[in-house]
This record gives sequence, C-alpha cells and structure tokens, in this order.
Amino acid sequence: MLSTKHLLGIKNLTQKDIELIFKTADNFKEILKRPIKKVPSLRDTTIVNLFYENSTRTRISFELAEKRLGADTINFASGNSSVAKGETLIDTVNNILSMKVDMVVLRHSASGAPHFLSNHINAAIINAGDGTNEHPTQGLLDAYSIREKCKTLKGKKVAIIGDIMHSRVALSNIYCLKKMGAEVTVAGPPTLIPKYIDALGVQVTYNVKEALAWCDVANVLRIQLERQNMPLFSSLREYALFYGIDKKLLDSLQKEIVIMHPGPINRGVELNSDVADSQHSIILNQVENGVAIRMAVLYLLSGKDSI
Ligand code: CP
Repeated sequence: MLSTKHLLGIKNLTQKDIELIFKTADNFKEILKRPIKKVPSLRDTTIVNLFYENSTRTRISFELAEKRLGADTINFASGNSSVAKGETLIDTVNNILSMKVDMVVLRHSASGAPHFLSNHINAAIINAGDGTNEHPTQGLLDAYSIREKCKTLKGKKVAIIGDIMHSRVALSNIYCLKKMGAEVTVAGPPTLIPKYIDALGVQVTYNVKEALAWCDVANVLRIQLERQNMPLFSSLREYALFYGIDKKLLDSLQKEIVIMHPGPINRGVELNSDVADSQHSIILNQVENGVAIRMAVLYLLSGKDSI
C-alpha cells in the first residue's frame, strides 16, 4: 500500500512507495506485452482526466493506462468547457464528482492546483503536472527507465540539463532519483538554474560538456519559452551553440551515455536529431514505460488488492 491517498508530488513519497510503484509497473509491463493488453482491475472505477493545459504524451498515456485497467474514462479539456464561462476549479470538479467519478487526474498551469484541490474534494487526485512545481508520473517513469536501462539507480550519475528553472520535470526527477540513491547534477545557463537548488543535494555546473563527461545518463529538458516572461538568454541559436547536445559533442566524450528527454523536443535547440534518434536515446522507451507507471499509480491509489 502507498503511504499517500493522492499522488501530488514525489517530494512526499517514501523510497518504499517508489519501489512498490516500480514493482507494480513491472507486473503491468508484462501484461502490456501480451496479445490482450488488458486487465479488469479497475472495471468498476471511473476516472476523469482534467487537462487545463496542453499535453500529448501524459494525456494519452493516462487514458491508455485507464483503458488497459478496464476503467471508465472521461476526458476534459478546459478550452471547450464551462471554464471559459468563469467556472472555478472546485465547482468544475465537484460537478464532475457528483456524476459518481472516483479519481481525478489533473494537469494545471498553476503550481499547487492539485494540492489545493486535495483539501476540498473527496476523491484520489493524481498530479499530471502543475505549473513549474512537479510532474510526478514523469519523474517516476524517467527513474524507472533508467533503472531498466542501467539495472539499478543506486550510484548512477544523472545529469539534468537545460531549463531547470521552469521545469516541473526537473524537480520530480531530483526528488525521485535522490530517494533511490542516484547522484544528480543539474547543468545549464546560470539564468535557468534556480538559486539554492544545491539545497536539494544536487551538484550544479554551467558547463554542459562537463556534466556530460561526468554522467552515465543525461536527461535533457525542453526550453520552456511559454513560461519565460522575460528573455533569460539571448537567442535560441546561442542556446543551441553553448548548451545544445549534438552527435559531435557526444563523440568528443569518448564514452557511452544514455540520452533522455521528457518531450516535446525542440529539435535543433536542446537536442539535435542526430542524438534524439540515435542508439543512445531511450526517449521512446520513456514514453512506453509511462503507460505501465501510470497503470501502477492508478491501481495503487484505487485501493484495490489484486491485479
Ligand atoms: N512529458 C510531457 O509531459 O509531455 P506532454 O506535455 O506532451 O504531456
């Protein structure tokens, strides 16, 4: 059993929780390899996917995970809803819950929205990304993918590279990897790395080549221009020149490293196609693992006791 009723972030998960999620995801991954990729574990459960912000991977992955578990699913996109008429988050959710919905998956542009909701409603909430705070299922699937590729997380050196400041993926990765015994360095331009991030037990460098030379795994993050209210570097061209990763840079390291990216990629900015699509990349494995991880989270939070 998980130590929490909701998945609001990785900050409050225990190492035991994460191990249980990974073990459960291993079982679901096995099921997903079968010709019939479905189990009836959540057949009496109704889940709403509430997306107040754009998404491709997370939304489809949650919906697929729910369908693979036999749940009834409802998809809500704020753009074509009564949110446009001024309805509040709590009113929207309470109206949906009154239709006998059991679980809520929420993506919201406001940091803390799922935490706020958890104090006002009586259903399990799963944070599918809140502002610049956390994206816990992404952190879990990233760590799970490293564990799968490198056999263990303990002692593995992971560099998180790019726009750390605006990234909810960075924070969830740091919490998850540190809890599981990995070493973490964050790298990027000084203006995109929060002050005092070293308080989370990570090392900091402003030199991407140095981070790559140090690490076993590089998780490269998207430059989040939509979250930058003022310019924090002079141009995308300059960013690509000093902080972008291409094959030439990887070849100069004379060692193998694993390349990850949560998506969507700005090709030619933080990552060149000759790296994103290379044999070093496990980007699509991350996406594949997302379904098993989300099945595990949904199943464990549902309180059911047999797969
Ligand atoms: N990784 C991720 O959250 O992607 P989406 O925004 O497409 O869901």
